[in-house]
Amino acid sequence: MAEDNTADLLDALKRSEHRYRNIFQAMSVAFWELDFFPVGDLLRGVRKQGVEDFGPYFRKNPDFVRQMMRATRIVDVNDRTVALHGGGDKARLMAAGLDAFWPDASLGVYAAAVIAAVTGKPSYATETRLGTLDGGEFDALFTASFPPDTMNKGTLLIGVIDITERVRAQAQLAQLQAEFAHAARISMLGELTASIAHEVNQPLAAIAASAAAGQRWLARDEPDIEEVRTLVARIAKDAARAADTIGRVRDMAMRRAPEPAALSLNGLVEEAMVFLRHEIQGHGTRVVVDLARGLPPVLADRTQLQQVVVNLAVNAVQAMGEGGTLTLSTAPQDGAVRLTVADTGPGIPEDSLPRLFQSFYTTKAGGMGMGLPICRSILESCGGTITAANGEAGAVFTVTMPAAG
Ligand SMILES: Nc1ncnc2c1ncn2[C@@H]1O[C@H](COP(=O)(O)OP(=O)(O)O)[C@@H](O)[C@H]1O
Ligand SMILES: [Mg+2]
Repeated sequence: MAEDNTADLLDALKRSEHRYRNIFQAMSVAFWELDFFPVGDLLRGVRKQGVEDFGPYFRKNPDFVRQMMRATRIVDVNDRTVALHGGGDKARLMAAGLDAFWPDASLGVYAAAVIAAVTGKPSYATETRLGTLDGGEFDALFTASFPPDTMNKGTLLIGVIDITERVRAQAQLAQLQAEFAHAARISMLGELTASIAHEVNQPLAAIAASAAAGQRWLARDEPDIEEVRTLVARIAKDAARAADTIGRVRDMAMRRAPEPAALSLNGLVEEAMVFLRHEIQGHGTRVVVDLARGLPPVLADRTQLQQVVVNLAVNAVQAMGEGGTLTLSTAPQDGAVRLTVADTGPGIPEDSLPRLFQSFYTTKAGGMGMGLPICRSILESCGGTITAANGEAGAVFTVTMPAAG
C-alpha cells in the first residue's frame, strides 16, 4: 500500500519535472538557471566590512559586480538561450560564464537584480542590453524571479526575451512621428505666410524710414548727431525685431530630432501668442490669456509643443473668422497640467467630433486636415491627451500633460 503511494508520488513528481523541463526547453524565452549560492558568500563578506546599503557600494565598485557575476554558476540553459546568446554552441556558452554576456552599460541591471533578490522581492524585470558570445549586443527584456523555495537552495531563474524588433519599430515610429510633425509645421507656416511676411516687412519698412530720416539729418549744414543717434538706436531695435521673427519661423521650419525638456506651459502659451500676434490682429480677434500660477513644468519638445498651441489657436481664429474671442487658460489637474483653448466660433457639429483627429479630415477649402491629428500624436508621444468638445460659446479643446519628474 505504502509502496503504491510512493510510486504514484514518484510518478507525479516525474511528470511534473518533465513538464517543467518541457516548458524550460520549448518556450521562446531564453532561460538561464543559475546557482547564486557563491554570491551569498561574497555579499556576507561585504556586509562584514560594514557595508549596509548595497546599492551605492555596487555603483562605486563595478569590479565587485563583475566578481559576483563570475561567481554565479550557470546550472543549465535552454535551447533558446544557446541560439540567442551562444551562437548554437552550448558547451562554449556554459564555459564562458555569465560575465561574458553582460555589457558594462548593463552592470546596473545585474546589481539591481541582486538587490531585489536579497531584499526579498519576488522578481525583478527591466529592459536592457545583453551580449552574445561573438561580442554582439541586443535589446532585451530581462526578468529574474526569486521564488523563496528555490532561493533557499540558491538557484534562480532568469528569462531573456529579444526585443530588438520592437525597439527598432519604436524608434522608427518615433522618427516617423517627428517627420510627420515637421511636415505639418511646414504646412502650418504656409497658412501663416501672409502674417509672417507682414511681421518681417514692418520692421524693415521702419528701418528704411529711419535710415532716410538719418540721412536727412546728416545732410544738414550742421548735422544733428543727437537725432541720428536716436534713429540708429531705433534701427537696431527694429532689426532685432525682424531677426526675432525670422528666428521663430526658422525654429518652426527646422527639421531636427525632438529633444524633450522640462518646459513651462505658460511660457509656451505666451510665446505662441507672440508668434501669432499679427494673425490675431489681422482677424480682429480678442485674446484672453488666463494662466495659473505655480504650475509644474511638463516634459516635451519645445517646438512640437509650440506647434500644438499655435495649431489650436489658428484653428480657433479660422473658425471664428472676423472678431470673436480666443481664450487660452492653464490649470493644474492632479499631477498633470491642463490647457484649454476655447473660441466663440460656430463650434463643431456633433457628428464631426469623432472624426476630428483623423488624418486628412478637414472642412476647409484649402485645408490639409493634418493639424489636429499631429497635435494628438505629439501629445501622446509625451504621455498627454487632447479632446474636443462644444462649450457654451464655441469649440473647446482640452490638452492635458503629465507634470515632469
Ligand atoms: N476651433 C474649431 N472650431 C470649429 N471647428 C474646428 C475647430 N478646430 C478644428 N475644427 C474642425 O476640425 C477640422 C480639422 O482641423 P485640422 O486638423 O487642424 O485641419 P485643417 O485646419 O487643415 O482643416 C477643421 O477643418 C474643422 O472642421
Ligand atoms: Mg488646422
